[in-house]
Amino acid sequence: MASQAEANTAPKTIPNVAGLPVVGNTLEMAKDPAAFFLRCFRDYGPVYRVNVFGQKSIVIAGPEAGKFMNTKAARNGLRSKEFWQDFVDHHGASKTLTGIDGEVHQKMRAIMRDGFSRNAMAGRYHELTDIIDISLARDWGESEVPVVEAFQYMIVHLLGEVMTGKAPLEYVRDIRVNILYILNVLVTKQRPSVMMKMPEFKKASARVDELGEQMVDEFFAHAEAGTLPKNLLGDVMRGHLNDPELIQKRDLKLVLTGPYVAGLDTVANSLAATVYGILKTPGVLEKVQAEADELFSKDTVTERDVLGLNYIQNCLKEGMRLWPIAVAQMRTTNHDLDFEGYVIPADEKIFIGTSVPHFMEEFFPDPLKFDPDRCDRREHLKPGAYAPFGRGTHSCLGQSLAEVLMGICIARLFHRLDISLESPDYVLKTKTAPTPGPAMSFKIKVDGIRKPAKSLKAEELGEAA
Ligand code: HEM
Repeated sequence: MASQAEANTAPKTIPNVAGLPVVGNTLEMAKDPAAFFLRCFRDYGPVYRVNVFGQKSIVIAGPEAGKFMNTKAARNGLRSKEFWQDFVDHHGASKTLTGIDGEVHQKMRAIMRDGFSRNAMAGRYHELTDIIDISLARDWGESEVPVVEAFQYMIVHLLGEVMTGKAPLEYVRDIRVNILYILNVLVTKQRPSVMMKMPEFKKASARVDELGEQMVDEFFAHAEAGTLPKNLLGDVMRGHLNDPELIQKRDLKLVLTGPYVAGLDTVANSLAATVYGILKTPGVLEKVQAEADELFSKDTVTERDVLGLNYIQNCLKEGMRLWPIAVAQMRTTNHDLDFEGYVIPADEKIFIGTSVPHFMEEFFPDPLKFDPDRCDRREHLKPGAYAPFGRGTHSCLGQSLAEVLMGICIARLFHRLDISLESPDYVLKTKTAPTPGPAMSFKIKVDGIRKPAKSLKAEELGEAA
């Protein structure tokens, strides 16, 4: 029971972050959101109010904010609807996984869990390796390779094959443009809505719509023939047929093209950041090559082998720590919320700055150093310290899939090709919209082929798999 003194303690006042007239903190946020949230955390504490992109919002940040996301108070007290509603309306859908909460959200996640997990890759590492080799031959033959874009093609190829059975490569540019506009304008509201009228967006949007329609038609044909595949899209279609109210017909296009929206930018940005870290940091490349060569000295590669790439997985963790694609999670409060002595009012749009500790020396000594060995020192396992895949009810459903996918991509790339930075003193340029990450202008040089393409043998899976 609270003492009288505690009961009388007034909540702390939420400080406003000082900013410029009219634009407030927009410029600092647009330049480097991770650095901005960290600076404010240092200057103002774990709760502060910012004025960005024409809106005042409360930020809760730091390790306690990360821990809070995994509590019952956050589960009951936060919702996602407002941030995704314009996106849902734009598509004429009833809902999207990212924008719903509570029981319906749990049901949808349950339907999609298996297809989005690394189980989707089981027994297919030989196929994935062949696809990566095709991508390397197609997009990494030039002396200067735009890394983010080359990975985007690789990812669509891989996700397409794994989740739907075919890769819509001719739609990669459209998917990219579509995501860029939708996230910038409809979700994060960093750009004005008039941009949705731009011919570039309208064309890309129509093309992604066309892709969605093809996928829906194909899946209805499978459903009629009783041949729905055992993959994410098969699961979604079965979910629709079993409960047409939960996954409505008008939601299907959005759900079926969802993996590309969720996976394209996130994986490509994280991979590109990791490649930069590996090439830039003395002593790292040799260890990555040695581990990759050992992996592909085997005839067959399994999930266990890819998860066992300790050094490469550590490099990926460092890539995602230093260049997190989600600097903050965005939510609205359902009711007044107590956090660290402050009261966050009901119906307030808030940012949860879960990546702030990524840059704090209290958790990661010499925080700006790309140091894969820090994962062996378990620095990222300190509570609240590390959250590249988000936290709480909406944390990344594709995490386990992304980990194996990125593991095999990095291993194969560094096994097959000799690559280097444009120049040893090159410093990575970054972009912040729609999601932070390496700039599209980041290029590497292909200096030659290290090892020839040699296909792997299929893994023999037991009955359980
Ligand atoms: C390095 C790669 C990735 C990173 C860093 C990442 C990060 C994230 C983050 C931070 C969230 C939470 C957003 C929030 O709470 O508002 C999220 C959600 C999600 N991610 Fe990922 N993601 C990655 C790859 C993928 C892939 C490959 C897929 C599937 C193809 C995927 C599917 C999803 C889905 C479906 C959600 C929504 C979950 C929900 O709302 O319940 N992600 N991801």
